[in-house]
Amino acid sequence: MPSWDANLYLRFAGERIQPAIDLISRIALSDPKRIVDLGCGPGNSTAMLRERWPAAEVAGLDNSREMIVAAAQAHPDWTWIVHDITTWKAAAPFDLIFSNAALQWVPNHAELMPRLLMQVGSRGALAVQMPAHFQSPVHELLLEVAHNDAWRYEMRSAVQAIKVERPAFYYDLLRPHVSKLDFWETEYIHQMNSPAAILEWMRGTALRPFLEALSAADQKRRFERLFLSRLETAYAPQKDGRVLFPFRRLFLIAYR
Ligand SMILES: C[S@@+](CC[C@H](N)C(=O)[O-])C[C@H]1O[C@@H](n2cnc3c(N)ncnc32)[C@H](O)[C@@H]1O
Repeated sequence: MPSWDANLYLRFAGERIQPAIDLISRIALSDPKRIVDLGCGPGNSTAMLRERWPAAEVAGLDNSREMIVAAAQAHPDWTWIVHDITTWKAAAPFDLIFSNAALQWVPNHAELMPRLLMQVGSRGALAVQMPAHFQSPVHELLLEVAHNDAWRYEMRSAVQAIKVERPAFYYDLLRPHVSKLDFWETEYIHQMNSPAAILEWMRGTALRPFLEALSAADQKRRFERLFLSRLETAYAPQKDGRVLFPFRRLFLIAYR
């Protein structure tokens, strides 16, 4: 699991938070009492949950100490938990288990999703958003650079780090256990200043395990230079010089 840099992640906070807004707005629960935000990061998604349901008890959970420190600095009175989702087990059922842009980092969704669902109380919900852009140029180019002979061996686990399945997989897994399943995908078209800004975006998330797999600073720089040169070819500038960065995301809300 790569380490996280809360400041770098917050560089594109506006773009990153929109999917959480869209997910929260579609959760059809009027009065959940207990909510947990899994992979809460610096707490932006947790704050939005508290805003929508001010009377609920809301906890944020993340396995990155740095992220939890940033969250606790912003909101010292709220409940923050350092824990790994892989081994997390709720002491009592939750009315809402929420996760925005985190479960793609957690392996074995065939085991994970039913386990999370079983920790949701009756008439509660599991609400999840994950990137689903694995056929997009940015992801394919990242894998292409990772397969370069210069570091192919070091990259073995990084290329496996993010795993999101197809909607049909989650449907078969969850549908037998729920009263209703809401499912959709949205492609956000981010307007970036340059291909270098796409690289900067990726540094805050998906690029992390790839860079951490390389120990030498000059190799990291070489990896980034190669990746950037491919981004410059794939993401051509618009007339005003800006670059469109389409980013597809999968949403699911499973109601018990
Ligand atoms: C892209 S951030 C999302 C943060 C927040 N949910 C938001 O919407 O802004 C992903 C977060 O998931 C956390 N994460 C990744 N794998 C995790 C795991 N196995 N257990 C707990 N947290 C994890 C990371 O530490 C990171 O803070």
